[in-house]
Amino acid sequence: GAPVKADISKLEMGQQMIVEWRGQPVWVVRRSEQSIADLSKLNDQLADPASAVEQQPEYAQNEYRSINPEIAVLLGICTHLGCSPTYRPEVAPEDLGDKWLGGFLCPCHGSRFDLAGRVYKGVPAPTNLVVPPHRFIGESVIEVG
Ligand code: FES
Repeated sequence: GAPVKADISKLEMGQQMIVEWRGQPVWVVRRSEQSIADLSKLNDQLADPASAVEQQPEYAQNEYRSINPEIAVLLGICTHLGCSPTYRPEVAPEDLGDKWLGGFLCPCHGSRFDLAGRVYKGVPAPTNLVVPPHRFIGESVIEVG
């Protein structure tokens, strides 16, 4: 499939936009400074906090899993059986209560991911969400593919 472009100039802090690439949803989320800082607090709850598993291109092999810490680009497909998780920046899963720092919940079997698409321990999804190949074209346009 051809690459697709996402214009993120109007994407506000905390917002998610979805573009379609190869028939699949790709999420672009603008993370707040607080969300970025929170990522390192989650490490002990995550199955693969350092993203050692090859679920992202080399340029996103870092604690933010992104080129620019503010902008997350993730394939919106659960790594368990392929449902599309829901963006839940605030509303926590019941058992996490106020410990939830935002992320994505899979409606099918309850897998949960943080705002870098990193999978929590103890859920069915075996790996972090995939970071698709992408690049910035100028400051506010991302090309995926
Ligand atoms: Fe997401 Fe099973 S498909 S938890």
